[in-house]
Amino acid sequence: MEEAQLLDGRLVAEEIHKETREAVQRLRRKGILPCVVFIRVGNHPPSELYVRMKQKKAQEVGIQSEVIALPEDVTQQEVLESLDRLNQDPSIHGILVQLPLPKHLSEKKIALAIDPRKDIDGFHPLNLGKMLLGEKDCFYPCTPLGIQELLKRYQIETEGKEVVILGRSNIVGKPLAALFLQKSKYANATVTVVHSLSQNIKEHCQKADILVAALGKAHFVTKDFVKPKAVVVDVGVSRIADPSSPQGFKIAGDVDFAEIKKIASWITPNPGGVGPMTIAMLLANTVKAAELSLGHPF
Ligand SMILES: NC(=O)c1ccc[n+]([C@@H]2O[C@H](COP(=O)([O-])OP(=O)(O)OC[C@H]3O[C@@H](n4cnc5c(N)ncnc54)[C@H](OP(=O)(O)O)[C@@H]3O)[C@@H](O)[C@H]2O)c1
Repeated sequence: MEEAQLLDGRLVAEEIHKETREAVQRLRRKGILPCVVFIRVGNHPPSELYVRMKQKKAQEVGIQSEVIALPEDVTQQEVLESLDRLNQDPSIHGILVQLPLPKHLSEKKIALAIDPRKDIDGFHPLNLGKMLLGEKDCFYPCTPLGIQELLKRYQIETEGKEVVILGRSNIVGKPLAALFLQKSKYANATVTVVHSLSQNIKEHCQKADILVAALGKAHFVTKDFVKPKAVVVDVGVSRIADPSSPQGFKIAGDVDFAEIKKIASWITPNPGGVGPMTIAMLLANTVKAAELSLGHPF
């Protein structure tokens, strides 16, 4: 049996960045300079890294960006005041608050405080509700959108297919299920979502034509979970001990890539699959926010 082909997120993300760069140039000619603000709180090395990566890519495509680094002990009120100021500023099109936040801050209240027209992460309830309804004049969460876009660019049909999603978080599993359920191209799927209280998880996964693993449990999905010729998407990012690496750890996905690539038809590498697509969709959403600011209805 032939090995699976790669769903190369890095390659596709570069294609999307090129399109974003062109859209930025069109906006600049109309006098609009797309601008995003990243807020991060406290000292959380992975968050610092994610924000740096996002800012670097924003720069590459010509989007202006600013990072607001708030101290660990910032109050909820101070965060809300910062958001209010950014909401009012017409030169800022996108606002992203890097998660996770320290425990004393409410992610829910903060998501609600971002103007939905600047909510490029797509976590505001208005955007999530519109996504559920299949509306387009809103922002979809970047990881689910990136997964759908990756399948689309490789022309992997989802219509009528059994899609099984491992994980039901508000940022990946649930919105991805809503996307694949839409009555539209690269959706129209039959969707099953499993979580930590599901029974017969392996049997559910074995039915999948398209299996998406988003649990954050390193190498949880082994070969025996996967139907031959299935499409496998690995969202997970976990740190596992690795005494041979200078940091003492390495990053692992949710999927046993080495074994599963022998039986799947398509598989995402990890890293190099969903991660770069998430950033590409974030910047595409920023440009969309700038375009919507030109007066299109929201
Ligand atoms: N590459 C990217 O761009 C990107 C973006 C976002 C997230 N991620 C990664 O993707 C992973 C998931 O992220 P998340 O934010 O969705 O995580 P999360 O909020 O921790 O949710 C994990 C989900 O997996 C389920 N789960 C956990 N253990 C399970 C088990 N043993 N069996 C079945 N289900 C189980 C949980 O079930 P319950 O609901 O029952 O607890 C939950 O629904 C993480 O590794 C994260 O770092 C990557």
